[in-house]
Amino acid sequence: MPDARLKTIEGGRTSPEAAQAPLLMQARKLSFCPNGKPLVDTVDLDIREGRRLVVMGANGAGKSLLLRLLHGLLPPSGGEVVWQGKPLDRAAMREQAMVFQRPVMLRRSVIANLQFALAVRGIGGTERRRRVEEALEQARLGDLARHPARVLSGGEQQRLALARALACTPRLLFLDEPTASLDPASTLAIENLIATAHARGITIVMITHDKGQARRLGDDIAFLHGGRLVETGPAARVLETPNSGAARAWLEGRLYLDDLSSTPSPTP
Ligand SMILES: Nc1ncnc2c1ncn2[C@@H]1O[C@H](COP(=O)(O)OP(=O)(O)OP(=O)(O)O)[C@@H](O)[C@H]1O
Ligand SMILES: [Mg+2]
Repeated sequence: MPDARLKTIEGGRTSPEAAQAPLLMQARKLSFCPNGKPLVDTVDLDIREGRRLVVMGANGAGKSLLLRLLHGLLPPSGGEVVWQGKPLDRAAMREQAMVFQRPVMLRRSVIANLQFALAVRGIGGTERRRRVEEALEQARLGDLARHPARVLSGGEQQRLALARALACTPRLLFLDEPTASLDPASTLAIENLIATAHARGITIVMITHDKGQARRLGDDIAFLHGGRLVETGPAARVLETPNSGAARAWLEGRLYLDDLSSTPSPTP
């Protein structure tokens, strides 16, 4: 488990302890170019143990693709993903979990969805029962345990997907817009689960379009534009004084069409 001191950010600057957090994962010149067009373009990115990295950028910037590449769900066209100094392999993938924007549920009950995820990781018996109970409690789904997972509301499904991922005790958790289209109460429930995961030392890489959420949950921000990583830094600094034109325009709510020109919003 990482040292709790690694989590501190002071005055919008990464604390010296945080800067020294051990490197867990790296993207090295990572690219994804189906049909020759780079949708993720030579991305270099460090993911440090116990940190919460928020990935931001416009629709189509390549955020979801980047997460899929990092998690090993897509083969890169170029570059590599490195996990603890070695190329990402199946064993490393089992130390990670991913929650998708639209939760993927088995056509089974809530409880069976939890049991299955643990069973495929070889967790059985008393330990599995303990983790299932804990996940149901965390997700506040005890009353719905025997219901088919697919009839749950969007917020309930998202809580189940997150609690199911946490039950597998990953070292790194990828979250692709975990609260998109959820109301404030459901968003708060999900943010509390993410905070619980972070408090347990789980490293988090999360996509969000919500600046408030990035401020609440992010230690660092990586900003993508047109498949390129145009800016990284401590969350408070990037949100308040972005260096790149693309991040500045996006955070100010202006349209930004390419790297060279930004289009001002129409005057009212
Ligand atoms: N498997 C694929 N093959 C080819 N093109 C793809 C593939 N997956 C995504 N794309 C395209 O790559 C671009 C980036 O997609 P991606 O889903 O990563 O965007 P995003 O930044 O997550 O956007 P959003 O905020 O809308 O979710 C899009 O133009 C998309 O249509
Ligand atoms: Mg996406």
